Amino acid sequence: MKIVVMGASGHGQVVADVIFQMWAKGREMELVGFLDDDEALQGTRVLGLPVLGRLADLPAQPHDCVILGIGDNASRARLFAELTQAGKRFATGIHPTAILAPDVVVSPGAVLCAGTVVNTGGRILENAILNTCASLDHHSVLERHCHVGPGAHLAGNVCVGEGALVGIGACAVPGVKIGAWSVVGAGSAVTRDVAQRATVGGVPAKALS
Ligand SMILES: CC(C)(COP(=O)(O)OP(=O)(O)OC[C@H]1O[C@@H](n2cnc3c(N)ncnc32)[C@H](O)[C@@H]1OP(=O)(O)O)[C@@H](O)C(=O)NCCC(=O)NCCS
Repeated sequence: MKIVVMGASGHGQVVADVIFQMWAKGREMELVGFLDDDEALQGTRVLGLPVLGRLADLPAQPHDCVILGIGDNASRARLFAELTQAGKRFATGIHPTAILAPDVVVSPGAVLCAGTVVNTGGRILENAILNTCASLDHHSVLERHCHVGPGAHLAGNVCVGEGALVGIGACAVPGVKIGAWSVVGAGSAVTRDVAQRATVGGVPAKALS
């Protein structure tokens, strides 16, 4: 399965490494290269793989599916919608060191980075990111396009809404709902539901703006 990584910056390289590690463990996943709109990257190599062109150049590249290596949730959601409209298939990235209960559901385009843990009943929807060493406890859900940052820990029955960002090292107590497109600041403890599009931070997390 030939895979193009959309985005070659920091997060794109993390995603490429996830796919590379899956290939190294025997999965049939071949990295073709990156596409990125950064002029300075054109024609260069990143992680030993070619930057083949801009995002819009995808049709010219032989591929079976794509995976999105863009950290910003709104940009990643937009690109996901465009590529879905164009009929593209999305690879799912699950680093070989991720630990998943057998009934966990991971939807196409989601990325689970090194050292992540998802307990029983967990669901990770399309284009969501569970970043390095983050964990999602039982029956919790990551909605589409959200991002749970490195080292964040979410208790059981937590729901992270569409496009929300949970910052590095944050945590959430059981059963809370983190609203769509909200931001939870780095190191925060979420003890109550977070409203849609709110920015919260601190221990316990309170509105920042
Ligand atoms: C919450 C956050 C989005 C705020 O960023 P910002 O809008 O640029 O805000 P500022 O840095 O100007 O800070 C605004 C206020 O919020 C406070 N604040 C910022 N981040 C905070 C946090 N994580 N927890 C508690 N308070 C925080 C600041 O101290 C400041 O308070 P003040 O007005 O009393 O001085 C950002 O600090 C953050 O934590 N982002 C998470 C990023 C992340 O982890 N991404 C994952 C990458 S893989």
